[in-house]
Amino acid sequence: MLEGFSWTPRGGSAIESSERMRGALSRAAARSLQRNAGPPRTSRDDLVEWARTHLRDRKFVVVSNREPYSHTRQGNGVGWVRNAGGLTVALDAVARALGGVWVAHGSGDADRETVDAHDHVACPPDRPAYTLRRMWLSEIEHAQYYSGLSNGALWPLCHIAYVRPRFRLEDWERYRDVNRRFAEAVLEEVGDAPALVFLQDYHLALAARFLRERRPDLQIALFWHIPWPNPEVFRILPWKKELLEGLLASDLLGFHIRAHADNFLDSVAATLEARVSREHLAVERAGRRTWVRDLPISVPSEEIAALAALPETAAAGQRIRSELGLDGCKVGLGVDRLDYTKGIPERLEALERMFETHPEWRRRFAFIQIAVPSRVELKEYREIGQRTRTLARRINRRFPRPGGPTVHLIESNLDFRDLVPYYTMADLCAVTALHDGMNLVAKEYLAATPDLDGALVLSPFTGAARELERAFIASPYDREGMAEAFHAALSETAESRRERVTALRETVLRRNIYDWAIELLDSVESLGLRTPLPEVGDLTNG
Ligand code: F6P
Repeated sequence: MLEGFSWTPRGGSAIESSERMRGALSRAAARSLQRNAGPPRTSRDDLVEWARTHLRDRKFVVVSNREPYSHTRQGNGVGWVRNAGGLTVALDAVARALGGVWVAHGSGDADRETVDAHDHVACPPDRPAYTLRRMWLSEIEHAQYYSGLSNGALWPLCHIAYVRPRFRLEDWERYRDVNRRFAEAVLEEVGDAPALVFLQDYHLALAARFLRERRPDLQIALFWHIPWPNPEVFRILPWKKELLEGLLASDLLGFHIRAHADNFLDSVAATLEARVSREHLAVERAGRRTWVRDLPISVPSEEIAALAALPETAAAGQRIRSELGLDGCKVGLGVDRLDYTKGIPERLEALERMFETHPEWRRRFAFIQIAVPSRVELKEYREIGQRTRTLARRINRRFPRPGGPTVHLIESNLDFRDLVPYYTMADLCAVTALHDGMNLVAKEYLAATPDLDGALVLSPFTGAARELERAFIASPYDREGMAEAFHAALSETAESRRERVTALRETVLRRNIYDWAIELLDSVESLGLRTPLPEVGDLTNG
């Protein structure tokens, strides 16, 4: 297994303040030098500096359903994995830089054995930089809050994938209870101290309201990592009013793209009595103002690039090639949770079409699909798994390859560190979601391609496509078009590949997770200072 990222944890409190000042100044100087010398790169140190100046005595608390690290039974002992989900990998970089507490559901089968009496465990387990506070959910809580309301109702409601949401009152009530429990855990962590609470995603839409009831002074931001539907779709949610009221207890709500922020404002205008300003991206209701911002999330690009450049990573990539019989073959890669929004069958069907229309790729191209088992309690997820397996078998039967299967379907939950060699060895990465808030696989892949030898086939229905315009953009609804995109990506000259990946990569290196975090946290700060409310006259009734 590869070493973890190479950054060091945040400096200790024993550092003399003058030394800190000197450090800060030299970092600022280095940054400005770098700015003058080439494209600016915001670094982890910049985020640390931001926190020193702005957070001061405030506690920083991240809250998400999924935990960044899980402890699991491994043989007779206990080990840990770094969960590979885009959100947890990205936010982990922020939490490492800022320290503080991360509250999340403890879902690993050895999680309970590794916490202390306060349900705390230091993370990352090999280089502690922050505290993970685990929350325990009973089976029924998990079934109704996570599988039922979060993933059986809100997930299909927010994604255009033509899966009908299921609305059950008992799921909603449990969702409310679990959100209250998350809020209580945060309040325990915060005590009487001032704090900035950073909630994540659709699992926690009501948590801000419960926090606000007990601690009106807290600064609260929530980032909605999935799309927000248009108001015509949103209005079918039986609890739409309560969900919006929960969200509007935050000071700031973040979305990846402007269209989702606009959809949110339109949904508020259509549902609540509130003043909604599309110009200022704000909602005013019951004397409170919530700012809405579109801030596309990114990845810890430099760290992923450094990991990708390690000789161990190249060796691991080489091992994967020989173990899977891929030597001398071009290799495509897909990395997704087995989710119906990710367009995995559509991708395989397009590959099959490419083998039909461009026979020169038969036996010369193979595809690895890493499919992380996900939400299998829900039948739509089991069905997408079956469809994917059937298609992989069909392609392998129709287009055999001497060295091994043409499609390698790896159904496994890989540690992020084990994923990077796949990124680096692939000649092409396919991100073909039917609909996706951002999709960080696209950005991780580019960050992990330091040799500039790669190609990205990208769905226009991902948030990432707004920034990564030079990818091979191909619709998962257009099999012929996507087959041609695969062919074009594989046929491109080495020079043109280099030039394209350089440009795409630059976007990911320049707009990295630290930019996102600073911009978001800075918005909470600076917008919060704008009292009394300005330009009230500009706020229009919904
Ligand atoms: O895409 C939304 C999201 O919350 C991601 O941020 C995250 O990677 C994924 O869904 C989590 O899925 P789960 O926790 O259900 O495995």
